[in-house]
Amino acid sequence: MKQAAIVVLISGNGSNLQALIDAARNDKLNVKIQAVISNTKEAYGLERARTAGIPALVKPKLKTQEREAYDAELADLVMSYHPNLVILAGWMRILSMAFISHFPGRILNLHPALPGTFPGVEAIERAYDAYQHGEIRCTGVMVHLVPDEGIDLGPVLAQRTVEIKPKDTLQDLQKRVHLCEHQLLIETIAHQILEMEESHA
Ligand code: GAR
Repeated sequence: MKQAAIVVLISGNGSNLQALIDAARNDKLNVKIQAVISNTKEAYGLERARTAGIPALVKPKLKTQEREAYDAELADLVMSYHPNLVILAGWMRILSMAFISHFPGRILNLHPALPGTFPGVEAIERAYDAYQHGEIRCTGVMVHLVPDEGIDLGPVLAQRTVEIKPKDTLQDLQKRVHLCEHQLLIETIAHQILEMEESHA
């Protein structure tokens, strides 16, 4: 099986990136991470990439820059690595079609909630609050394709329910959700690579 090239976009800690790095290293995932790109230089994930010997790039949006102009430049940068898949692993900027149109069916976004719930930032915190108010009984994690500018919205590739226990602290729940997404992201990428290969066979 040919190795798939991926580019990972991050904005923060990069624990999901680390899961990808580890899976690639342990032959659990047949990918080469060509580059890690962050929109902020503070993202700890950049350090994780450097430690793993992966090109770590910072691409901040300039204040004077239009959103589409930034997205077009970002797309050029990503395209220069010829990825089969672009993985949004904690990428916290909404991408416009100036980016998305270059990678049809090839952008995967990870979101720490079930489809249609808690889009945007602090999804785990909001799920925790909703549970405390009796509004939900569980939460989850999903990986979906990014067809347009919808926030954490698009054809769902995989989802998994995460239990919330009555005595959970927010930290307990965060830990459980992150553990789940680290696994689901790897499994979904592996599955997606197989699908891509079969469709090209
Ligand atoms: C993850 O929980 C990811 O699902 C979430 O950001 C976190 C990044 O963590 N993404 C979103 O909320 C997208 N709306 P990480 O930097 O440790 O991988």
